[in-house]
Amino acid sequence: MKPEEREQKLRAVAQEIIACKACVLHQRRRKAVPGDGSMHADLMFIGEGPGQYEDEQGLPFVGKSGQYLDELLRMVGLNRQEVFITNVVKCRPPNNRDPLPNEIEACKSYLDRQIELINPILIATLGRYSMARYFPNGKITQIHGRPKFDNGRIYYPLFHPAAVLRNPDLRPAMEADFRRMIDLVKEAKSKPAPSDPQPEKKDEDPPTPPKQLSLF
Ligand code: URA
Ligand code: SF4
Repeated sequence: MKPEEREQKLRAVAQEIIACKACVLHQRRRKAVPGDGSMHADLMFIGEGPGQYEDEQGLPFVGKSGQYLDELLRMVGLNRQEVFITNVVKCRPPNNRDPLPNEIEACKSYLDRQIELINPILIATLGRYSMARYFPNGKITQIHGRPKFDNGRIYYPLFHPAAVLRNPDLRPAMEADFRRMIDLVKEAKSKPAPSDPQPEKKDEDPPTPPKQLSLF
């Protein structure tokens, strides 16, 4: 798929999300939060759902957790415009309650399409709901920072930034996980896994694909 086509499709997904009424969460949202960042990102973060500030601004991770996420990205030489950040549900659950299974299910196709279109090398999960997608029985204290390689993509469970802010003892582990994650992306870019899609798949792309993470 051509980059422009991909961008156009992603914008269409975002428009659908903004108009979506597929679950009750639409009732009390101020702004839906489709996601933010590069549509050609190598690295995608999936959180739980928007909180108060995200709901006000229509952007993911802009509150305290987001500031910490920004700090972690800076630590590895990145900023949020070079990655893609989204959530399992795109509208704020009232009083920041946990998203319900039927809400996650109702919202799933948006996330599925975003992943398919962005086609990131690595998906980092932030919190238990995105983790549950890829590590159904995983316990974060045991599996954080341990990559799963599947079909040419890396799935990588991280602590939720809010959990680290609540428990600063987790900071060193979070930082180490972040650095390891960047190494994994670099490594994957330098030698594609045998299970990676064949390059022919992208033969419509220009010779230098507009992947943003030239830093890698
Ligand atoms: N926490 C999340 O999981 N997602 C956000 O967008 C903000 C805070
Ligand atoms: Fe639609 Fe998802 Fe918002 Fe529910 S949370 S209304 S499914 S966009």
